[in-house]
Amino acid sequence: HRHLTGIEGLEPHEIAFLLDEAEHWVEANRQHDRGQDRDWARLAGLTQINAFFENSTRTLLSFEIAGKRLGADVVNMHAAQSSVKKGETLIDTAQTLNAMRADILVIRHMSSGAVKLIADKVDCAVLNAGDGRHEHPTQALLDALTIRRRRGRIEGQRVVICGDLLHSRVARSNILALTALAAEVRVCAPSTLMPPAVERMGVTRFTDFDAALEGADVVMMLRLQNERMDGGYVPSPREFRLRYGLTPERLKRAKADALVMHPGPMNRGIEIDSAVADGPQSAITEQVAMGVAVRMACLDVLTRRARGVEGWA
Ligand code: CP
Repeated sequence: HRHLTGIEGLEPHEIAFLLDEAEHWVEANRQHDRGQDRDWARLAGLTQINAFFENSTRTLLSFEIAGKRLGADVVNMHAAQSSVKKGETLIDTAQTLNAMRADILVIRHMSSGAVKLIADKVDCAVLNAGDGRHEHPTQALLDALTIRRRRGRIEGQRVVICGDLLHSRVARSNILALTALAAEVRVCAPSTLMPPAVERMGVTRFTDFDAALEGADVVMMLRLQNERMDGGYVPSPREFRLRYGLTPERLKRAKADALVMHPGPMNRGIEIDSAVADGPQSAITEQVAMGVAVRMACLDVLTRRARGVEGWA
């Protein structure tokens, strides 16, 4: 693979390979935290452009940290301060970045499919940092890594994904990755926020959160994506919390040691209570830490061929 535009199209062994590569960087980052940096500069001399057309905290910063730890020259392009605001098209922007001879483009865009469009036009490796409702592959990889490390394995784990599934690229990429790795995935949402024919993705559909939670190993909560609602009925925050909010009482329906996850940004008091988000079962900050390792792995693996090192899978 030249690019990482989605989990779709990856074989289970390729997903597992990226997780194994990320494990290496989890350990390396531990050494970094202890002040024992080794020579990691395998991306020295390469230029990484992070082009973000949509807001981000976690993804942008972790891609920047990951690139810098690997020695790349990292440049961030924020659409709000760019010529996109003067009407430059996506393709013209992509060709401009290509002409600057970037080696890696990391792109976030509000339109589903925009990253693939750019990937087809440029010479360098492209990584999808989230495109519309479509995919957020590095989020799914960091979530899978968190589950594998905390629960020992992914296969057979009952994972409940609850919230605004209709608009969620995180949910889509997670469903693709977790079903490929043989987890039992349950999805739960009000019917207005459930993707049509979601069962075809190999998941079980619930509208009753209490029923979905029975025996869960992992509970992954999603926020209401208000910026992507397009006129359909949307529950009020109070109504949503009542039926779909993860409260300490509700969490008792899952296994006693169930893992609580959230990709962020959280809307505390709506889809998740602070007592749960900050509680002993929460892996939310660990997810963020795994994000740096996963992104280091993806940057390393996708630039291997350009660096004359054997590629992946
Ligand atoms: N999880 C995630 O993509 O967060 P950001 O929008 O802050 O990058």
